[in-house]
Amino acid sequence: MKKIIIAIDGYSSCGKSTLARELARVLHYIYIDTGAMYRAVTLYFINHNIDFKNEEEVTNALNNISIDFRKIKSEIHTFLNSQDVETSIRSMQVSELVSEVSAISSVRSFLVQQQQAMEQQKGIVMDGRDIGTVVFPSAELKIFLTASPEIRATRRKKEYEQKGIDISLEEVKNNLAHRDHIDSTREDSPLRQAADAILLDNSYLTKEEQLKFVLDLMSEKFNLH
Ligand code: DC
Repeated sequence: MKKIIIAIDGYSSCGKSTLARELARVLHYIYIDTGAMYRAVTLYFINHNIDFKNEEEVTNALNNISIDFRKIKSEIHTFLNSQDVETSIRSMQVSELVSEVSAISSVRSFLVQQQQAMEQQKGIVMDGRDIGTVVFPSAELKIFLTASPEIRATRRKKEYEQKGIDISLEEVKNNLAHRDHIDSTREDSPLRQAADAILLDNSYLTKEEQLKFVLDLMSEKFNLH
């Protein structure tokens, strides 16, 4: 069976990782969460007091960063310099700074290079902001996921609550709007729907309906399952 690259891009908290993870599970593909990589770099910068505006400090810091993914009890965890940072990269502190860090060109080229090297493993579902436009412009299937801001904020608040983090809907909404703005207006590879990406608004779709939508698309396009 031919294995392809599936690129999933979209705004913050649209459910990209949920859909990508599910697709990878049913297709036996590898799932790569590129947002986790930007979050891991951000966490390193916070922990080492790196001045984001100082290009030399940023370059030196990047030379000391190694990111990889490991399976822990059937869940994929992000490792930063061999430490499991899966929980800490999802903190509000990281969420507040990650878009600024992701707008730095040297950070982007450092991570894009590593993401492109993963192509060798074909059978990949990768989610992020620039996968269909920059990382894998020739990906066989590209999805651009969207949902209403209200629904996205409500979903993200629920995720925080499940982790025991008390945060107002207003705060979550502001963080999402702030990140969307920076992600789509930055100079280097801004968030855009690729010309050949298929738009999927999942505001009123269940996880199962979204999965079926993509699997049906794959059947139509490639006769893959
Ligand atoms: O998907 P996420 O919310 O975990 O991503 C965190 C941030 O990382 C997001 O605000 C923008 C940035 N990002 C990016 O610039 N490019 C990617 N391919 C993935 C994420």
